[in-house]
Amino acid sequence: MGNTRLTWLGHSCFQIDAGGTTILIDPFISENPKASVRLEELEPDIIAVTHGHSDHFGDTVSIAQKTGCTVVCIHEISQYLKSKRIKTSGMNIGGKIELAGIHFIMTDARHSSSIDESGWGFDGGRAAGFVIKFDDVSIYHAGDTAVFGDMDLISKLYHPDVAILPIGGRYTMDAKDAAFAVEMLRPKIAIPMHYNTYDVISQDPNIFAQNVKSLSTADVIIMEIGSYIIL
Ligand code: NI
Ligand code: MN
Repeated sequence: MGNTRLTWLGHSCFQIDAGGTTILIDPFISENPKASVRLEELEPDIIAVTHGHSDHFGDTVSIAQKTGCTVVCIHEISQYLKSKRIKTSGMNIGGKIELAGIHFIMTDARHSSSIDESGWGFDGGRAAGFVIKFDDVSIYHAGDTAVFGDMDLISKLYHPDVAILPIGGRYTMDAKDAAFAVEMLRPKIAIPMHYNTYDVISQDPNIFAQNVKSLSTADVIIMEIGSYIIL
């Protein structure tokens, strides 16, 4: 640990900078009322998209067209992006790929997926999460999901040091359920996301932190939008 910078850009969007490579997860920027950066500032080498919903798929197309970066995503979204001549690395749940020396493992998520960009019901395949592994640190970004028992298996297989989890409720698990996710995942650090972007997902992250304390030894880091931590 010590070489990886993790920045929260709001909602479920995180940027990871490690060893000269920049990864952007779920780049929902231009339509995000709470975004802390402008689209033009982003120059990722890789974008990882958890599912097709607009608050995750977000600005993937425009960023990828501008930068020529590679998009890591599930097969169906990959097909959609290829039709727009975007470079992709398609995969599916349980699969592993390596790009620029970084390992991406696509995990299950209990959620739906459709690509909202083209209107109703364009098939986005399944919703997913990612474990992203560097030399010395493993980060699990859950995407949108309910809590599920196989988070215990994700822990056993991939040993995430950091778990980034949605806590907003309504469309995902809430601050109570997400604490049980932390208990199963056994990370060193748990970071809440996907809350307070809109009124319908308002949630107090301190409640998440309190709930985690009663179930796990993980440190909860409540990040400010635009801030980063070093891992
Ligand atoms: Ni969603
Ligand atoms: Mn969402």
